[in-house]
Amino acid sequence: CGIVGYVGGQQAAPLLVEGLARLEHRGYDSAGVAVVGSRMRVVKRAGRVGQLADALPKRLAGRTGIGHTRWATHGPASDRNAHPHTDAAGTVAVVHNGILDNAAALRRRLEADGVELASDTDTEVIAHLVGRSTAETLEGKVVEALAVVEGTYGLAVVHADFPDRVVVARHGSPLLVGVGEKEMFVASDLAALVRHTTTVAHLDDGELATVTSSGFTTFRADLSRTDTAAHQVDVDPSAYEHGATGAHPRMYTEMLEQPASVERTLRGRLDERFGTAHLGGLGMDPRELRAVQRVKILGCGSAYYAGQMGAQLIEELARVPADAEAASEFRYRDAVIDPDTLYVAVSQSGETVDTLLAVEEIRRKGGRVVGLVNVVGSAIARACDGGIYLHAGPETAVASTKAVTTMFVGFALLALQLGRVRDLSVADGKRLVAGLLRLPGQIEQVLAGGDRLTGVAKTLAAAESMFFVGRVRGYPVAREGAQKLKEISYRHAEAYQMSELKHGPLALISPAVPTVALLPDDELADRNLAALHEIAARGGPLVVVTHEGVDLGELAAERIDVPRNEKELDPLLLTIPLQLLAYHAAVTLGHDVDRPRNLAKSVTVE
Ligand code: G6P
Repeated sequence: CGIVGYVGGQQAAPLLVEGLARLEHRGYDSAGVAVVGSRMRVVKRAGRVGQLADALPKRLAGRTGIGHTRWATHGPASDRNAHPHTDAAGTVAVVHNGILDNAAALRRRLEADGVELASDTDTEVIAHLVGRSTAETLEGKVVEALAVVEGTYGLAVVHADFPDRVVVARHGSPLLVGVGEKEMFVASDLAALVRHTTTVAHLDDGELATVTSSGFTTFRADLSRTDTAAHQVDVDPSAYEHGATGAHPRMYTEMLEQPASVERTLRGRLDERFGTAHLGGLGMDPRELRAVQRVKILGCGSAYYAGQMGAQLIEELARVPADAEAASEFRYRDAVIDPDTLYVAVSQSGETVDTLLAVEEIRRKGGRVVGLVNVVGSAIARACDGGIYLHAGPETAVASTKAVTTMFVGFALLALQLGRVRDLSVADGKRLVAGLLRLPGQIEQVLAGGDRLTGVAKTLAAAESMFFVGRVRGYPVAREGAQKLKEISYRHAEAYQMSELKHGPLALISPAVPTVALLPDDELADRNLAALHEIAARGGPLVVVTHEGVDLGELAAERIDVPRNEKELDPLLLTIPLQLLAYHAAVTLGHDVDRPRNLAKSVTVE
């Protein structure tokens, strides 16, 4: 979900709506604003921010306000469940990200007191609690309300009796205050602020702030002041503008940015002379790197699949046992935390709560965690002991593309550095450095041929169900390819290890069930080809992503060739056509590529 807020000399409503449009990737089930003028006015709607904009009355005057775009957790997406939520008198309005764990009990208690609840949400209780508080200040009311709620929140509150301020609070869900000229902004994400200001304060967990047109003050739940200050964030506001190529979905633009984003991940980190990488942000000297006995990578969704690609790279290059696990599972299974293991948290947003909580659990138990994170200063980046920023630039399409490929490159750098303080030879190191430097040009090449994939994408779009298969290096690529296709085309796609197909799923192969197979020209190519024959023999249509010159023999298959690089780096180039296939399949089916149903870009709830 996304939060925005404004206090200043301008009319709040248009600024709030504009901010919400920039946060829409965080949730788009419903949206709403509350504006405080001579009284409080709330407008909210199920559906997109655009629908809210259309519904706004011409005259919605007020220079203080808050807004929200929602990804439903409690209660379906509807007008009544949309934020902001208000108290019975309509004097308090609240927008909230996160989940309250004791909402059901609080709702019951309020109802027993005669309060009529207007929604199915957990958030509404906060509005009533603030409204019923007898504290004299808005700060006091909010603190009193929060004293009885349990769970996570990033929230913003306005009150008709205190029209000069927005009070915000953070506990597990990000909140930023943006400093302007006699005006102040509030947001859950930098994307909503950068057009207005890059002077920003990140609230810490447990902190609240009062935001007025002239400034902000931060404090804790006991109302004692804290000294959180605003600082200049090092971002290029133009990178957040989608305008230039606005004719295409963001996912398309972001796919096309991959040569440049990969180049940025590599910049200044490669040592061609000694065939290694320098990752100063890790904060680990060669002795500490040599002491690493295992690597455990944690992430969710596409970041998890990129982590699987990374684990493979680390084992191959550094000969350190490595594996990846979904952070969402890891944190629930009381995992053994080992002091000789290097834990790596991988996340585009740096906010995914499952990953963040895994990091906190590891640190609590004395483990060392480094981050592979895109968003600078994000919660996961700050919770880690050190890390590697991806520098992919802002990614806002729900279907992750440039973040995934830069994650792969980040892992390659880590594997190289870990390898070169162990057994990896200088010659192999140099071979990989040269390979990494070739990647941007080769990605460009694959992207340039992208339109040729529309025919194959149409075939896939016509199938109800399909497989993506790969072996060893290719398997995580298959998982990421299937994920991408599912996310935006809503076709069922299942990833399988090439070798496991015959142990069960081969039963599903038929002319109606195509298979997208990854067949890099590596030491496993012959084995893979044999598996593809088993599919073809059962009448399964094949789309083979491979290297030029690989002889598919008698296999009747659609082939997609990618350029050759060092075999360890194959997964990256094999991933690109799968992004293109998913994209074109979704476009063929007429779907809203950037706002796939039921999903959101950053999942900041458990
Ligand atoms: C969500 C998104 C996925 C993404 C995952 C992890 O589920 O829909 O596309 O891969 O979160 O996000 P992160 O920001 O941690 O990389």
